[in-house]
Amino acid sequence: MKDSVLQALRQSDGFVSGQKICALLGVTRAAVWKAVQMLRSDGYLIEAQPRRGYRLAFEPDRLDRMKLAELLTTCRIGRSCEILAQVDSTNTLCRTRAREGASDGLVIAAEHQTAGRGRSGRTWHSDQCQALQFSLLLRPALPPSRAALITQIGAAAMAQAIVSAGFEPQIKWPNDLLLNGKKVCGILTEMSCELDRIHWVIMGVGLNVNQTDFPPDIEGIATSLAAVSGKTHDRTALLAKFLNAFEPLFDDYLANPASPQALEICRRRSSLTGREISFTDDAGLAQKAIVLGIDSVGRLEVRLADGQLRRLLSGEVHLGHQK
Ligand code: BTN
Repeated sequence: MKDSVLQALRQSDGFVSGQKICALLGVTRAAVWKAVQMLRSDGYLIEAQPRRGYRLAFEPDRLDRMKLAELLTTCRIGRSCEILAQVDSTNTLCRTRAREGASDGLVIAAEHQTAGRGRSGRTWHSDQCQALQFSLLLRPALPPSRAALITQIGAAAMAQAIVSAGFEPQIKWPNDLLLNGKKVCGILTEMSCELDRIHWVIMGVGLNVNQTDFPPDIEGIATSLAAVSGKTHDRTALLAKFLNAFEPLFDDYLANPASPQALEICRRRSSLTGREISFTDDAGLAQKAIVLGIDSVGRLEVRLADGQLRRLLSGEVHLGHQK
C-alpha cells in the first residue's frame, strides 16, 4: 500500500486529491492516510491541504524497490529483492533465505547493518543510508573449484557500474575496488557445497557511496564515490547498474568457463600487476613477490624473490612489505 501511494504521489504533478488516490488504488481514505503517515515516518515530506489533497515535496535518498525494478534489464538477477531498513548482516539473512529454499538471483539490501561482516573475520562499518550494502544469492551448476572466480565477476561488474557513473576504478585482486588507491568497495563471498556440487554462493558487496567521513581506523585507506567526486550518488541506480552488469558476465562464465570476459576486465583494471606484494603462504610463511598477472582461471600469478612461480587461488595480498 505504501509503495502504491508513493507511486501515485510521484506520478502527479503537484497536488493529488485523497479521493483520486482512493479511486486509483481501490482503497479507503483511511488506508491512504495511514500510508501517508508511514511514508512521512520514513523521511518523505508530504504536504496536505484541504480540498487539494497531497503533494510529494521531498524524497529522502532511500533504496527503492520499485525504482530498482524499473531500472533492471536482467532476467533473474535482482528480480526477487528485499530492501530492509536494518539488519545484522545482509549475508547472514541471505544465508537464512538460501536454507529456506530461496531461488537463484535473490538480492537482499539494507540501509544499515548492525553486524556487517568483512573478510577474515573483520567487521564491515555501516553508515545509515550512505553506503550500498547488499547480498546476492546464486545457485550455479558449477563444481566448487570454479566458485572462487565468482568474486572476480562481482568485482568486474562493480567496476563497470562505477565506470558508467563516471569513475576509473582499479581492481585489487580478488575482491576490492579502489579509487585513487583507496578502498571504495569490498566483496565477501560465502558458499555451501558438497565435494562435487554447490548448494549456494552468497556474494556480499559493500560500496561506499555518499559517506564523507570514516572512522579513524579506516579513514586513511577508505574512500567513497562522494568523497572523490564531491557530489552525492543515487544508490538505487548504482545497484541496478551493478546487477545489469553482473548477469551477462555471470552467464558468460557459465557458458564459457575457460575464458570469461570478466577476467579481461579484472586484468585491464588490475592494481597489482607489475607491483611488489607480500602475502602469507599456505605454510604460514611471509612471502614477497612480483605480480605477473591473472591466469585463465582467475589465479594471481606471482614470482617469488627466489625466482619460483606461484599461483594464488584466493587470500589476502598486500602491496609492498607486509607489516
Ligand atoms: C571486505 O572487504 O572485507 C568485504 C566486505 C563485504 C561487506 C558486505 S556489506 C553487505 C554484505 N553483508 C555483510 O555482512 N558483508 C557484506
